[in-house]
Amino acid sequence: MENINWSELSFGYMKTDYNVRCYYRDGKWGELEVSSSELINLHMASTCLHYGQESFEGLKVFKGKDGKARVFRMDENAKRMQSSCRGIMMPELPVEKFEEAVRKVVKLNERFIPPYESGASLYVRPLLIGLGAQVGVRPATEYLFIVFVTPVGPYFKDGFKPTPVVILRGYDRAAPLGTGTYKVGGNYAASLAAGEKAHELGYSAVLYLDAKEKKYVDECGPANFFGIKDNKYITPQSTSILPSITNKSLMQLAEDMGMTVERRQIPEDELATFEEAAECGTAAVVTPIERIDDIDENKSYVFSKDGKPGPVCEKLYHQLRAIQYGDVPDQYGWVTIL
Ligand code: PLP
Ligand code: COI
Repeated sequence: MENINWSELSFGYMKTDYNVRCYYRDGKWGELEVSSSELINLHMASTCLHYGQESFEGLKVFKGKDGKARVFRMDENAKRMQSSCRGIMMPELPVEKFEEAVRKVVKLNERFIPPYESGASLYVRPLLIGLGAQVGVRPATEYLFIVFVTPVGPYFKDGFKPTPVVILRGYDRAAPLGTGTYKVGGNYAASLAAGEKAHELGYSAVLYLDAKEKKYVDECGPANFFGIKDNKYITPQSTSILPSITNKSLMQLAEDMGMTVERRQIPEDELATFEEAAECGTAAVVTPIERIDDIDENKSYVFSKDGKPGPVCEKLYHQLRAIQYGDVPDQYGWVTIL
């Protein structure tokens, strides 16, 4: 096997040995199939290519000190994919099938699970696409579910280090009653231009404001936002953000640490009162925010003056990682040993 420098991995694609597939035809899901091809045979009129019938998920597998592989909350990803399917008129994949596919693809690619000491993980990427041909705007009748894996390091190049983010008032990611709560490709297409602009300006991500009033904090690039003040964990309530499984887990951990959790609208001005701020997600884990610049309004909110994460972010990050790697007891049954 090629030598992988596990601790130098970034968040990118690496070819692994196998992927797992399942087709939906004639109104039902078939059996799981194993493939060693990275390619898909696709009709040029497939609805995923024209009308965005595509949903994906992202979850991670961690190797513990004991050498066991642990997957984090995969039932939640399975259920969220079902919700995405309802959102864009695709057939729901049974939770058991999703979990069986994850177990199978991880087992088949076991040699790609990074060792405990590296701090890296195996990223699992399930996707479900409309395969059937349509020219009129309507759902396909055939679908394909695939799961592939790739070993990954940190999403942001500096890892657990405060990073600057930017508000770009000229862009929205999702409409209040649109598809923002679903994990569908279209939302990411809608975020690319703003994302590239942010990178050009030296920021790692865009902090979106709500699309209707441009008043409240919404999604933070490919992650949820949270702020900390007065022993409170505060995260946006919004109809246009993805219900993050990481955020849901951190809310529980924050409560366990004696903090009050508030899920509510966060007016932009309130950012000035936060002691810490961060983005959270499977890829981002907990990434502390150094500062938020609202460049069109000439405002700036600074959370880290010395380039170091705040104490609450630090505690939450370490507690979450400890559960994921099996270093501390899994009190809530979040982890499945594969
Ligand atoms: N928001 C967006 C837009 C995302 O792409 C993700 C990543 O999945 C998240 C939030 C975080 O969700 P989770 O913690 O379930 O990975
Ligand atoms: C994840 O955190 O798993 C994501 O899907 C974020 C991004 C890579 C799309």
